[in-house]
Amino acid sequence: METKIFNKEQIPEAVALLRKGELVAFPTETVYGLGALATNEKAVKSVYAAKGRPSDNPLIVTVSDEQMMENYVSEVPERAKKLIKHFWPGPLTIILFVKEGTLPDAVTGGLPTAAFRCPNDDMTHDLISGLGKPIVGPSANTSTKPSPTTAEHVFHDLKGKIAGIIDNGPTEIGLESTIVDLSVEKPTVLRPGEITPEEISAVLGEEVLMNRGTTQTKGVPKAPGMKYRHYAPSAPVLIVDKEEDFSKIQWDDETGVAALDEVLEKIDSPNKYSLGKTIDKAAHNLFGALRYFDGEDKIKRIYVQGFDHGAISAAYMNRLNKAAAGHHFH
Ligand code: TXA
Ligand code: MG
Repeated sequence: METKIFNKEQIPEAVALLRKGELVAFPTETVYGLGALATNEKAVKSVYAAKGRPSDNPLIVTVSDEQMMENYVSEVPERAKKLIKHFWPGPLTIILFVKEGTLPDAVTGGLPTAAFRCPNDDMTHDLISGLGKPIVGPSANTSTKPSPTTAEHVFHDLKGKIAGIIDNGPTEIGLESTIVDLSVEKPTVLRPGEITPEEISAVLGEEVLMNRGTTQTKGVPKAPGMKYRHYAPSAPVLIVDKEEDFSKIQWDDETGVAALDEVLEKIDSPNKYSLGKTIDKAAHNLFGALRYFDGEDKIKRIYVQGFDHGAISAAYMNRLNKAAAGHHFH
């Protein structure tokens, strides 16, 4: 299959493909998603096949606005209304109870709930509103590989397997959306992202819990990604927590390093990847860095800078910990 690249003017072509049950990757402010018509069970199943993803991991339902979402939920609780008003379109995914019979089991993994998201991207807004129905939208990468932050990353992983990719340039945030579960007694963040539990709590005016990844419903991990290997390049990743530790590492042809510019300046390594000048930029560049070293066969170890401060550091460390399988440099 030829994988076509679409620009803004060609979005009607992409809509027609989705309507036929084909797969089209789409841009968002977080990472690129892999789109299929959410009400078409066969199309949804082919998403799992293209990604090589276990089919018990439920998918996000991506909508163009709150009204579209209302057709697929049993009710919109007051909390959801508040969060939607404040954060949509934007990088916040909300878990609500599904209106029975409106979404195939292939989307929900058989759960009574589904994850709803309304991305802040003009092209994707036109795509979904043109379709008139939601699309499922897992990240458009091969399962276990870093999520894609450019159309080129998507093309690298999925060329020949999907009908098209809508290219709207590099994504802005670079880490996936915050997921908050509103189907439980207390609002609970299942996956950290740019929007923090504190910000959600401020809008709701109540306590918000942070899930540490132990709860499961029907064997489906409640904290996304806990059950499967994630974001991993082929060489092992080691987290470097303290800046001064970079000087203790033996650099050679087989080592790669991704860190802020101020750290890289002091290191004599042949394989450097800049995470930029700030922690926000590092979040934006993390997946690109992991992908870069994944493509370099000679690299046998990848050292990546860790952070313990800054609003986005929880989301950044969550992804980096998974890529490193929890391994730190000491
Ligand atoms: O930023 C994002 O959210 C990106 C862009 C493309 O929108 N999408 C994304 O999708 O990260 P995905 O499929 O890679 O991650 C969605 C996560 C899954 O790990 C899944 O476990 C969780 O959401 N999830 C989906 N439905 C759920 C549910 N009903 N209950 C708990 N977790 C759920
Ligand atoms: Mg993913």
